[in-house]
Amino acid sequence: MSLSLSKRWISLLKVLVFGAALIPWGLIIYAVVADPISLGANPAETILHKTGDWVLYFLLMTLAITPLRKLTGWNDLIKFRRMLGLFAFCYACLHFLAYVGFDRLFDFSDMAREIVKRPYILVGFAAFVLLIPLAITSTRGWVLRLGGARWAMLHKAIYPIAVLGVVHYWWLVKRDITWPLVFALVLSVLLAYRGVKRGGRRIRAAA
Ligand code: HEM
Repeated sequence: MSLSLSKRWISLLKVLVFGAALIPWGLIIYAVVADPISLGANPAETILHKTGDWVLYFLLMTLAITPLRKLTGWNDLIKFRRMLGLFAFCYACLHFLAYVGFDRLFDFSDMAREIVKRPYILVGFAAFVLLIPLAITSTRGWVLRLGGARWAMLHKAIYPIAVLGVVHYWWLVKRDITWPLVFALVLSVLLAYRGVKRGGRRIRAAA
């Protein structure tokens, strides 16, 4: 089965996905401006948690595009992957800024002390830094400049980045590991799918 939508429908869907992806951030801004009490006793921490969750959601959605495309036969799904990946990066920037600005109030020596105490922050930081080259090279121009094969190789970094993100989350959770476990299971399924596909390709090539 192969589903295909006209360019106009794809553009409309892209606008809808773009708008929907801004909603979590819009809700945070709204809460800060109009309803700070809803952010609880520690608004900086709440913002940190909400933005952190969304980085992982967008990373997993980005990784899910290829399997979904193959399973549904809807090839146009690939047209949404770059946008979702860039939203993962945008939410990672907001998450990082929430930490540096709201949570630590730009006190860099305090941050250094905290990183020693809580090494999971370094893991999150590593994931964030690795996302930067992917965001920069996400344009068509960079695909041409690097060549398809090298570009694809670089963008495979999204898998270890997602693993680091899940490790970061799992490590920071103190008691209830339900959500880190859910993220880890979803990521494992996506990684397993990729492994099976790659194995299949190798066997076919050898045959
Ligand atoms: C791709 C990068 C990252 C991902 C996927 C990510 C994901 C997350 C998630 C899911 C949470 C928990 C949300 C919740 O409890 O509901 C979180 C919390 C947190 N993240 Fe990240 N994060 C990333 C990068 C970073 C960076 C760069 C920093 C700081 C330099 C950072 C610092 C923190 C801190 C301090 C918390 C809260 C810890 C606590 O409450 O004890 N993260 N992150």
